[in-house]
Amino acid sequence: MFLKKKKIISFLVSGRGSNFKAVAEKIKNGYIHAETGIVISSSPDALAIKKSEELGIRSIILDHVNFKSKEEHESEIIKSLENCKTDLIVAAGYMRILSPSFINRFRNRIINIHPSLLPSFAGKNAQQQALDYGVKITGCTTHFIDEGTDTGPIIMQAPVKIDEDDDINTLSTKILKEEHRILIESVKLFCEDRLLLINNIVLIKK
Ligand code: GRF
Repeated sequence: MFLKKKKIISFLVSGRGSNFKAVAEKIKNGYIHAETGIVISSSPDALAIKKSEELGIRSIILDHVNFKSKEEHESEIIKSLENCKTDLIVAAGYMRILSPSFINRFRNRIINIHPSLLPSFAGKNAQQQALDYGVKITGCTTHFIDEGTDTGPIIMQAPVKIDEDDDINTLSTKILKEEHRILIESVKLFCEDRLLLINNIVLIKK
């Protein structure tokens, strides 16, 4: 089979980094036909940095507190992403809001993972929002980032049943397992050029 040129995937992280690790391992073992570019952390304490070192992936800390403005911070991020010729950015638990100019520059090339079935429970603490509302099914969503809060074109979703004895920890754990699965599949589809955007709707080529 003719294999396409490998795409380069970079990651924006802020914390634990389990979604980053799940995808990076699948790149490493060849399940995703791609190469890893760089891991950029917004926080010096992110566990994701340790995980990237263990996987032998280059990482850099770009903490916004060390920059005069959002523009300067993002221009440093862009430099790092472009230095390694990034094709796709995965926002894997990235806690900063990206500016419209950043999003425009990488339009439909930034994938986010969100722990709810969007458009329900956008924004922070999505798992707690679902528990507080009392929905019986929640889940997770991968989408391209646009200028809104968790509003971009949806790539994949997975449902997760909420049981009566679920609390924030048990529910988050159940959702996280599905997050890893659909994020891996979404990145794989992107790398195989199988995500087609028509009128802001993502179609998956067979
Ligand atoms: C995940 O629940 C993700 O959906 C949300 O933040 C969490 C990050 O977890 N955006 P991790 O850093 O990937 O472990």
